[in-house]
Amino acid sequence: MDKIKVIGGKKLEGKIYISGAKNAALPLMTAALLTDEPVTLTNMPILSDINSLCVLLEQHGSKIEVKDEILDNHETKTYTFTTKKIKTTKAPYEIVRKMRASYYVLGPLLAREGKVELSLPGGCAIGARPMDLHLSALEKMGAKIEIKKGYVHAKVRKRLKGAHIIFPKVTVGGTCNLLMAATLAKGTTKIENAAKEPEVNDLANLLISMGAKIYGIGTSILTIEGVDKLHGANHKVVPDRIEAGSYAMAAAITRGKIELINACPRDLATPISLLRDIGVKIEETKRGFIIDANKCKIIGKDVMTEPFPGFPTDLQAQFTALMTTADGASLITETIFENRFMHVPELLRMGADINIHGHGSAIVRGVKKLSGAEVMATDLRASFALILAGLVADGTTIVNRVYHLDRGYEKLEEKLAAVGANIKRIKE
Ligand code: UD1
Repeated sequence: MDKIKVIGGKKLEGKIYISGAKNAALPLMTAALLTDEPVTLTNMPILSDINSLCVLLEQHGSKIEVKDEILDNHETKTYTFTTKKIKTTKAPYEIVRKMRASYYVLGPLLAREGKVELSLPGGCAIGARPMDLHLSALEKMGAKIEIKKGYVHAKVRKRLKGAHIIFPKVTVGGTCNLLMAATLAKGTTKIENAAKEPEVNDLANLLISMGAKIYGIGTSILTIEGVDKLHGANHKVVPDRIEAGSYAMAAAITRGKIELINACPRDLATPISLLRDIGVKIEETKRGFIIDANKCKIIGKDVMTEPFPGFPTDLQAQFTALMTTADGASLITETIFENRFMHVPELLRMGADINIHGHGSAIVRGVKKLSGAEVMATDLRASFALILAGLVADGTTIVNRVYHLDRGYEKLEEKLAAVGANIKRIKE
């Protein structure tokens, strides 16, 4: 299994191109199942999660065409999905277990074919991650749902029907699945307490270009008037705010200066304001923003994860790593997932001073220096947190289980090496 080797101590300086957002691309790809016409997505990131979802879509009957393209001076991929006929409505365990986001086929297949058999994705390192909210909302739309032998069996007689859904908790996946299901339902669906993440808005915008009628985008109340048919469309995937936030922290932790090209500051308003509060200079440019931490004193600051527009849980591990070398202490509170401090024991092995309290919070006290070590992470964002620690640690850090990073960070070593990091992949 590949590893990443980082030798710490380099200040990062230069430009990094931000790729299309993984968490937007995944539901956009399954939205293509809602029509028999081609759906073209540009600015697609090059990631293993995208390849895994392609395998699932192909077995459902999609023909996929991939082209290389240069967008804004940056190499990207354009994918066209055409699903003339659904070959099978079964999403099998062998594919779903590789990627939780496979659950995004549920809404589209149920809306188009009236039935789905989806292997339950199960938990993951950061928590149990149930699907109960997706399922109870679809039941309200008329679906009959049973769980048998590890599979969700969902069926509907004729068509899903519009319903009034109030999510008791903000769910990104639940909101996306419901949005897709409601576009082809009979009548109007109202979703209250909907997720407002930029990736949800991106999905709503694609659905509108496919002929859907959706109102209230960007607010917590979405109204969808069902239509009889959707058509093909072209759509550019939004920039990855989590990738941009992760590299912003790389600039900050190495006290460097990086321009993030194609990043969208509006989608990162809370993390940007937090970075300013801890002492980093941030300047918006026409093509993204610049993080300048040169000669900055970085101070400890408390943070709590929340649904958008709050501080994203997907940047919590990276911020925790940044705080390990800050001046002073920081209380980090995780409110979205119950088990998202798996990076902490590994950071402790690198000399960090962190105390976890219960499941929900950690106190980080800044130390003068971290020291390189062989470490391993259990999820994508935690792996990036270890890379960040490695960038400033004394000596060599080896990050194991690189497949986590390959799921969500396009060309990670290339992008970091281009701004001066001493980093390379060790193939094994
Ligand atoms: C998505 C993102 C993930 C991000 C998360 C929160 C993708 C592919 N993944 O995950 O990177 O960290 O949003 O921003 O876009 N919950 C239930 N029942 C449900 C659904 C969710 O209890 O039916 C709970 C979850 O366990 C969690 C919380 O609700 O505690 C939020 O989860 P949700 O927003 O649904 O996360 P995902 O869509 O899985």
